[in-house]
Amino acid sequence: MGRIEMKITYYGHSCFMFDDGKCRVLTDPYISGNPLTRISVDDVSTDYILVSHAHGDHLGDTVDIAGFTGATVISTVELCGQLIQPEGIKNMAGNIGGSLKTPFGSVKYVNAIHGSGIPGGLACGFVVEMGGKKIYFAGDTALTADMALLKDEGIDIALLPIGDYYTMGPADAKRAAEMICPELTIPMHYNTFPVIRQDPDAFAESLREEGLACRVLEIGETLNYG
Ligand code: NI
Ligand code: MN
Repeated sequence: MGRIEMKITYYGHSCFMFDDGKCRVLTDPYISGNPLTRISVDDVSTDYILVSHAHGDHLGDTVDIAGFTGATVISTVELCGQLIQPEGIKNMAGNIGGSLKTPFGSVKYVNAIHGSGIPGGLACGFVVEMGGKKIYFAGDTALTADMALLKDEGIDIALLPIGDYYTMGPADAKRAAEMICPELTIPMHYNTFPVIRQDPDAFAESLREEGLACRVLEIGETLNYG
């Protein structure tokens, strides 16, 4: 059997699509409100939506997209209970430290140091196992020593915020990548708003100087990761 090729498409901010050819997983779908967006919400098709926390630039168009695609939302108990369940949307509501088995593989909830955007509950990141790969989607987070634990997970791709102001900036994201040691780092959560303006190419170069691979995706670009 040949290796499965994962397609990872960047829709801007923290919104990615993972596609293993059988299943599609969308992260934090902030699309209609994103000034840099290149797609229309109506064009999005997905099977699952991962939501890291309830801030508007992450919850985004989740309810809309789940409504017309029939996608299942994967998030925390509190977020699903307050915002997803009442809409009659299918959901899987886990919590930090837990792993959920899914038809595409699994999703493990990991710590993110950030506000949840709802009463109670916590923001989270996810480790997604899909297509024989492990992807760490950090969500919005500060640098935290917990990231060192991810090194033992054998992360293939780390999606890290670099915007600063609300999350890690480039210097802390570099330290995160050094702790996690992924095969590839992809920056996210930058340039959408003036306060999170960053130079992703300079960030990529700073990682390469440490021997860490980094790829900056243009909005709308798809990476084929075999
Ligand atoms: Ni946030
Ligand atoms: Mn955010």
